[in-house]
Amino acid sequence: MLKDSPRAYGRLTRTLHWLVAVLVVTQLSSVFVNAVWKDNAFSQAIFPWHTTIGVGVLILMTARTLWALSQRRQRPRHEGRLQRLAIGGHIVMYALLILMPLSGALMTWGMGYGVHVFGKAWFEGADAPWAASFGGLHGTFAWLLTLMIVGHVCMALYHHFRLRDGTLRRMLGPAPD
Ligand code: HEM
Ligand code: HEM
Repeated sequence: MLKDSPRAYGRLTRTLHWLVAVLVVTQLSSVFVNAVWKDNAFSQAIFPWHTTIGVGVLILMTARTLWALSQRRQRPRHEGRLQRLAIGGHIVMYALLILMPLSGALMTWGMGYGVHVFGKAWFEGADAPWAASFGGLHGTFAWLLTLMIVGHVCMALYHHFRLRDGTLRRMLGPAPD
């Protein structure tokens, strides 16, 4: 089913979750792998697409936020303290997944380079020091997001292997009819 249900996330939520996950992990690992293994082939292949991938994440996250709001009454239930903490964690991840590309775009725009997607200038550069300095938070957002993702994946595995409560199956495996 396309829509979410109290038992599991539907096809659209799952598609958006895994698409954004792959793009963001590719983006972060291309930078972090390059820090330890300079000029490696993987980072060199991804870097020219950094802005294009980032803008893609921003567009997908805008759609995902609207979709999540429309589905909020019929999503899998989060009862108990730990579960409510999970909702807080998801909201923080949504915020970082939007702030990350937004800060990157404001940085390159405000520094006069503009924002280029698939080689085309979607926004010409401007002289906007406020935007460039907000963009200075790009690296900080990246570290926070990385910490959140590591915690998130650990919790998903903890639910699956220790609690065995079917949390992972809400997002993986066949979607309910
Ligand atoms: C999901 C989206 C994005 C992720 C996960 C991401 C991740 C990162 C990371 C980890 C760094 C290294 C930061 C550091 O060394 O302190 C970086 C640098 C950079 N990013 Fe992004 N980025 C994203 C989107 C964008 C977008 C949309 C743009 C531009 C339109 C952009 C432009 C830049 C630039 C120019 C740098 C180098 C300057 C710097 O190190 O602060 N990024 N990005
Ligand atoms: C192996 C990697 C991953 C696994 C196994 C995984 C698993 C899950 C599961 C089981 C849920 C549902 C949790 C619940 O209902 O309480 C979930 C939700 C979520 N995950 Fe992940 N995830 C992974 C990677 C990621 C990454 C890389 C991101 C961020 C880029 C992310 C962001 C989210 C968000 C924001 C939610 C909230 C539900 C939504 O609106 O989509 N996940 N994930």
